[in-house]
Amino acid sequence: MRLFQIIFYIIAFTIGGCFAFRQNVQFPYRIPKNIKLVQQAAPSSDSFDRVSDVPPRDDRYNNGIMLFKSNCATCHNRNMKDHLTGPALGGVKARWSDYPEEDLYRWIRNAPAMVDEGHPYGKKIWEDWNKVVMPPFHNLTDEEIADLLYYVEETNR
Ligand code: HEC
Repeated sequence: MRLFQIIFYIIAFTIGGCFAFRQNVQFPYRIPKNIKLVQQAAPSSDSFDRVSDVPPRDDRYNNGIMLFKSNCATCHNRNMKDHLTGPALGGVKARWSDYPEEDLYRWIRNAPAMVDEGHPYGKKIWEDWNKVVMPPFHNLTDEEIADLLYYVEETNR
């Protein structure tokens, strides 16, 4: 009779154990580690395709992303906060606010010309950045630059 009981318990625990293992539960119950990791990884994701966390997704914003990706992202960090080959662009409008807005637009269209002409701020950042020349983007229209800057400012919130 004893032997029968022992065998019964062994079988019961084995089956129970297998079931718990398949469900990835532990006793006492804890959230499986791999699920925690996924939850932690999501918010720090630095992808352009991130859907949450970036409220305005209108046409200007989307156009700004596209232009930034194809022209600027090689040198300017897409998080707008950390430097890369070029400076972080977050807050750029404020940094140019001592000058007419056209100066910033002109810088984006033709930075080397503004350095040559000796624009005080343009020349200063060029010197601060070891005289690395930012290439000109002659083809960008005012509207496209406005979209780019809109995207920059929205990303930097
Ligand atoms: C080849 C690298 C490179 C590319 C591509 C590039 N930049 Fe730059 N950018 C720089 C560097 C380097 C500076 C720092 C000034 C300098 O050295 O001329 C700069 C400076 C700037 C500044 C001034 C930043 C400040 O703090 O005032 C703005 C605005 C800017 N870039 C916008 C853009 C935009 C918009 C694009 C895309 C259309 C772009 N850049 C593409 C390298 C680049």
